[in-house]
Amino acid sequence: MQDEIISLKEQILAAIAGAADADALEAVRIQYLARSGALPVLLEKMGSVPKEQRPVVGKAANEAKTAVAAAYEARKSELTAAAEAADFDPTLPGRYEAPGSIHPVLQVRDRAIEIFRRLGFALANGPDIENEVFNFDALNTPLDHPARNEQDTFYLKEDGLAPSRGLDGKSIGGRRLMRTQTSTVQIHAMLQQPPPLRIIAPGRCFRRDEIDATHGMSFFQMEGLVVDEGVTLADLKGTLEYFFRELLGEDLKFRFRPHFFPFTEPSFEVDCSRTGSQVKGREWLEICGCGMVDPEVFRQVGYDSEKYTGYAFGFGIERIAIMRHGIPDLRFFTENDVRFLRQFSTRIDA
Ligand code: DAH
Repeated sequence: MQDEIISLKEQILAAIAGAADADALEAVRIQYLARSGALPVLLEKMGSVPKEQRPVVGKAANEAKTAVAAAYEARKSELTAAAEAADFDPTLPGRYEAPGSIHPVLQVRDRAIEIFRRLGFALANGPDIENEVFNFDALNTPLDHPARNEQDTFYLKEDGLAPSRGLDGKSIGGRRLMRTQTSTVQIHAMLQQPPPLRIIAPGRCFRRDEIDATHGMSFFQMEGLVVDEGVTLADLKGTLEYFFRELLGEDLKFRFRPHFFPFTEPSFEVDCSRTGSQVKGREWLEICGCGMVDPEVFRQVGYDSEKYTGYAFGFGIERIAIMRHGIPDLRFFTENDVRFLRQFSTRIDA
C-alpha cells in the first residue's frame, strides 16, 4: 500500500508539471484529485490496512496529499501569471491622459489656502444646500433683509422633503436654499467645537444675480473665522494685510472702510490699490468684507460672548483672480474656452 501511494504521488506530480495550460491542469485535477479521482479512491482503501502497518501508510498518505496540493497550487498560479502576460498586446494604443491643468480660480484658492495654513488656520467645510437658519437667522440676518428676497436667492421646492433641521438638530431650520455665502460655515464650525477656533472655509456660493462681466449666479468665496480670548481688530487688520500682500504683491495699499454686515460689529470693507494696475479705471477696489463677530452670533451657537471675541472675513475668489491676472470679464472663467484656460496652465506640455 505504501509503495502504491508513493508511485501514484510521483505520477500525479509529473502530470501537474506537464500540464501546459489551465485546461490541462483542470483535467489532471479531475483525474487524480477530485472526489472520485485516483488519489482519494486509493486512500479510502487505508481502512483495510492491517493495524501494524497503519502508521507507515498514514504517513505516506499525508505526505502525498500535501506534496500534491502544493504542486497543484504552485502550477496554477504559474499558469495564471503566464496567461496574463500573454494577454498584453503592445500594439494597442496607450491610455489617453487628458492634458488638463488646475483652473485659474482654483489656483488662487489653493494659493490662499497655503498662505492661511502657514498662519495656523485649519480648513472647514459646510454644505452647498443650506436652510434659512444657517444662511440667515444664525448670522443675525433679519427676515426683512434684502438678501432673503425671492428675487435674490435660489430657494428649493420643499415638496415631499422632510423639514430641514435647525441649530440644535431638532427644531426646524426653515426653507432650503443654495447658500448665498460661505459665512454659513462659521455656524457649522462653532456648533462642532468649542473655542478657540481658527478656520478658513473656501467654497461655492449662489445668487440670483443678473449675469454680466462682474456677476455670475455661482461663484467661489473664502470665509475666515478666528475666535479666542482677547482677539482684536488689530489682529484682523494685520492678518488680512499680510495675507493680501502675500497673494497679490508687496506694493499693495489698503483702506478699511466702515460698512455694515449683520453678523459683525463693527464691520468693514477692505479696498486695495496697486500702483500701475487699475481695474475699470478705479484706483481702489473692494476685495473683502470683514469685522468683529457680533455677540448675537456667539449667543446663537452657545459661545460665551463675555469671555471670547473674534473676527471674521469673506472674499470672492474670482474677484481676486481677476485682479491678479487683469482679466476683464468673469465669464471667461466658466466658458471653458481652452485658449483662455491654457494661459494659466501649470503644465509644460499644454
Ligand atoms: N458673507 C459676506 C458676503 O457674502 C462677506 C463677509 C462679510 C463675510 C463680512 C464675513 C464678514 O465673514 O465678516 O457678502
